[in-house]
Amino acid sequence: MNKIGQDINLASKYIINGDIVVFPTETVYGIGADATNKEAVDKIFKAKKRPVDNPIIVHICDLEMLNKVAVNIGEIEKKLIHKFWPGPLSIIFKSKDCISLNVTAGLGSVAVRMPNNTIALELIKVSNKPIAAPSANISSRPSGTCIEDIYEELEPTVSYFIDGGNSEVGIESTVVRVIDGVVNILRPGKISIEDILKVTDKVIMDDKCLNKVNDNEQVLSPGMKHRHYAPSTKCIAICSSEHNNIVNKINELINYSNDNISVMVTSDNVDKIIKRSNVNIIDLGNSLDEVSTKIFSSLRKVDKLNSDICYIQGFELSELGTGIMNRIIRACNHEVIYV
Ligand code: TXA
Ligand code: MG
Repeated sequence: MNKIGQDINLASKYIINGDIVVFPTETVYGIGADATNKEAVDKIFKAKKRPVDNPIIVHICDLEMLNKVAVNIGEIEKKLIHKFWPGPLSIIFKSKDCISLNVTAGLGSVAVRMPNNTIALELIKVSNKPIAAPSANISSRPSGTCIEDIYEELEPTVSYFIDGGNSEVGIESTVVRVIDGVVNILRPGKISIEDILKVTDKVIMDDKCLNKVNDNEQVLSPGMKHRHYAPSTKCIAICSSEHNNIVNKINELINYSNDNISVMVTSDNVDKIIKRSNVNIIDLGNSLDEVSTKIFSSLRKVDKLNSDICYIQGFELSELGTGIMNRIIRACNHEVIYV
């Protein structure tokens, strides 16, 4: 395990040299490379088995660097930057030519964020490079929020892993693009629509954040089309505005089944689920913040338990709940039972 450590100078040498490094951010871990070096960025696509039409977020450490990677920074974007950076918000701008075409997937736009994590900021600063970094996981799998999970999945292809402990937020950044003066949310996250409404009243949540995208349908963000966050185990979300209905439905599904079942529910529901030897209960915690930090590691656990099926409690579509549901619905490949 000598590839894991906390040596930022060593990690930055790899970045400058055109190699790839796993590093912590406040949302999830990133697998990063110099965003101006095409060959280096290609290594990320290979390591993750990422579809080449899916562009990568560029991480910066200060506003000077923003001006090197993006043009046409409008007034609304400036307000968002002022309120939310450093933090879990990625903003899409027109890209400058120094950013590799494989980072932007040739779209001419670039998603940028300034992470709120001292290791990430230091790595970018010492490397003096904008760092392109998707989440540190094989494409379509749950994102990596602890170094052990990521090491297991990506060890052979990555030069160095910076261990920064468990990710604080646990789900990826909110992605937005300002179009005709309106903030379009393309991926919900910790910065919620309610938070953005404090900056501007012109905000919309793209309907594809929570709904299935049909083949040939146009999307504002290529990531909306791809399979995401999914363990190998089949997952089904159980949703209701009535808390008790969710527990009752899960118990009904467990009853009479000999399958190896995983159940993911909040702490207050753990004791209400029928206890059986073929049922593993995964406690998602007490608050939306806690669920957010636990959701990806819990999805990985389901595979380790060799479950045949996993039932996941649904959450209300407000504040952080919307971002959590975006991940759950995709992990379930849109299989949802409403009760
Ligand atoms: O929190 C995060 O955002 C993490 C950490 C590592 O910073 N990164 C992350 O990257 O989640 P990734 O690649 O897993 O997700 C990036 C999402 C994708 O859905 C991609 O399609 C979208 O952002 N995206 C990136 N650049 C874009 C662009 N120019 N236009 C539209 N969508 C873009
Ligand atoms: Mg990802």
